[in-house]
Amino acid sequence: TRTPVNVTVTGAAGQIGYALLFRIASGQLLGADVPVNLRLLEITPALKAAEGTAMELDDCAFPLLQNIEISDDPNVAFDGANVALLVGARPRTKGMERGDLLSANGGIFKPQGKAINDNAADDIKVLVVGNPANTNALIAQAAAPDVPADRFTAMTRLDHNRALTQLAKKTGTTVADIKRLTIWGNHSATQYPDIFQASVAGKPAIEAIGGDEQWLADDFIPTVAKRGAAIIEARGASSAASAANAAIDHVHTWVNGTAEGDWTSMGIPSDGSYGVPEGLISSFPVTTKDGKFEIVQGLDINEFSRARIDASVKELEEERAAVRELGLI
Ligand code: NAI
Repeated sequence: TRTPVNVTVTGAAGQIGYALLFRIASGQLLGADVPVNLRLLEITPALKAAEGTAMELDDCAFPLLQNIEISDDPNVAFDGANVALLVGARPRTKGMERGDLLSANGGIFKPQGKAINDNAADDIKVLVVGNPANTNALIAQAAAPDVPADRFTAMTRLDHNRALTQLAKKTGTTVADIKRLTIWGNHSATQYPDIFQASVAGKPAIEAIGGDEQWLADDFIPTVAKRGAAIIEARGASSAASAANAAIDHVHTWVNGTAEGDWTSMGIPSDGSYGVPEGLISSFPVTTKDGKFEIVQGLDINEFSRARIDASVKELEEERAAVRELGLI
């Protein structure tokens, strides 16, 4: 039998946590043959709710779930962690300035980064889901100097998955027919879903949409970028099951690899590729193999794409400058 993998989930009592934990425990995060130990991190007032979720996990009798620990202490929750899903964050509330939002999240992600640095396993892989995800990942990474920088990633897989379905609907195909779609930049309204490299049922996506650049600019891109707000409007609550699903996909792909001839989108530290300043945690087209990822190189970036990538990267640079000024990185 395999050694259990320690998976730490922060914000475990939240709505994404509730949609995520049962799937991890059932084997969907790492594989149907990988036993897991769950470590749930919550703030003190939410510990009781986390215990309730743990009771339900017990009641599922998942064969792969070896044990559950609940704590409000990051040093305990990240002890020996192999995978960390940082979901709990401080949401933007009405009238909150960006600086306030970033410093509130600095108060969460800086200590968690340090706790990961001091306690996690050597092979730790971190996915930041809590918004602003890219910059929260940067804060956690900066607080963990002993952990290789490329273990800190931010989630743009939900945007990727949203884009797949929109393109499939437009072309009368299914998501399985679509390859090499990319989300570039920030997980925010400036993100750029790029179909110029993509194929639909073996032909260039741009042909599959009949060259309709107006649909791209006025429909596809804003629909994907503003989907979060549309879900809130319709559901009365923010995306939870789809966000949890994307977190599962992100880690599963990171650990188990991308399919031959395809890639995925992940927010990862830039090495300067495609003019994205080094060190920014930005979304790129990436392939993964043996638990490591690589940015897909050599893609032709047309003018349409260039302007949109640059705009999102500019926002990431502004966020980085702001957290630098606040002393968070
Ligand atoms: P939620 O408010 O239901 O749950 C958040 C949980 O985090 C709460 O239980 C809270 O007690 C906990 N928490 C707060 N501070 C904590 C800390 N320091 N340590 C541990 N736990 C802490 O929120 P929900 O819906 O689960 O969303 C979580 C985050 O995910 C939000 O920031 C949201 O914006 C983000 N999100 C990101 C997406 C992405 O695509 N990257 C998609 C959807 C949501």
